[in-house]
Amino acid sequence: MSPERVIRRHIEPSDAYERYEPDTGGHEPVRLDWNESPFGLSPRAQATLRAFETGNRYPSIDQAPLRTALGDYLGVDPDRVIAGAGLDDVINTLATTIIEQGDEVIIHEPTFGVYRSLFNLHGATVVNVPLGPTPDFSLSVDGILGAINERTKLVLLCNPNNPTGNLFPRDDLIKIIEATSCLVAIDEAYAEFSGTSHTDLALAYDNVITLRTMSKFAGLAGFRVGYGVFPEALMPWFRRAAPAFFNVSAPAAEVAIASLADLDHLHANAERIIVERERLSALLNEIPGVLAFPSATNFVLVSLPVEDALTVVTSLARHGLLVRHFNHPHLVQCIRISIGLPEHHDRLLDVLRRVLESTPEDQT
Ligand SMILES: Cc1ncc(COP(=O)(O)O)c(C=O)c1O
Repeated sequence: MSPERVIRRHIEPSDAYERYEPDTGGHEPVRLDWNESPFGLSPRAQATLRAFETGNRYPSIDQAPLRTALGDYLGVDPDRVIAGAGLDDVINTLATTIIEQGDEVIIHEPTFGVYRSLFNLHGATVVNVPLGPTPDFSLSVDGILGAINERTKLVLLCNPNNPTGNLFPRDDLIKIIEATSCLVAIDEAYAEFSGTSHTDLALAYDNVITLRTMSKFAGLAGFRVGYGVFPEALMPWFRRAAPAFFNVSAPAAEVAIASLADLDHLHANAERIIVERERLSALLNEIPGVLAFPSATNFVLVSLPVEDALTVVTSLARHGLLVRHFNHPHLVQCIRISIGLPEHHDRLLDVLRRVLESTPEDQT
């Protein structure tokens, strides 16, 4: 059968899944590359998972208990909450509901890579209004407003931004929201590490969506639970496009609900991550030529005194220390380190110092 006969025209073929299996030199890998939580499940979530016995039954059809727990957590009506198998899945529901071939979505790169790939898959034209250069990575409000046209369906802002870690000024967001009639989605996957929330904007403006996840602060990345607060007037359409059971499995929903009943525990974990983020950043900044950019997340972006930080990423991996490098012109010299445990960072700092000392002069 010819692919043209059946495949949607705008879908680019992809090779087999690329498995990222760096040479860790026989070391047990320390994953500081995916912005996961280093902590296990909260006590109530552990107990719930151990007691789960009804895998033969479907989850709640409308996930009302989960959406109620999420709504209570944010202080919003559960009927405004769309859930999904991770935040990526919620963004997929958003795209399914609003994108027609050729519609435009505005993003600000460097940002979370899934946006471009996911909206392209839905047939959207992704328009990039780049962030300003280091060290501020500022949002171009005028650039975004100038890029909006009648085909623009969505402005997607990642705040705090991954991978730069910075938080955009609230006034910038409000300027964009108030100047446009298209949707403005604020991805606040890292809100719990930032000391801010934009839920109030979703309640105050009828064109605002806020997006959240249980993957980061609640440490449920493997369970896949994301959610968002959507505009009241559009709920019938978003509900129609959302998959059955919102794609959330019964154990994942139960573990998420139990986690939200353990908020003191989760907030204490988030606080430990923030304290460790600041300690790591200060120690990184003591290394000559190294600059850790301020972060409002559970990771830090770090500029290194090398021409291309990919070589450092490979060297760190050989010691079992996995961090991320990005293929973006502003970030060639940077690595992104997810906040793990203090002992992981002490090892990382030690190896990084040695790697930088041994980096040949012509690399710097
Ligand atoms: C900004 C941002 N949004 C969304 C996600 C996806 O989160 P989830 O694990 O809930 O799919 C991530 C994951 O790293 C992220 O960094």
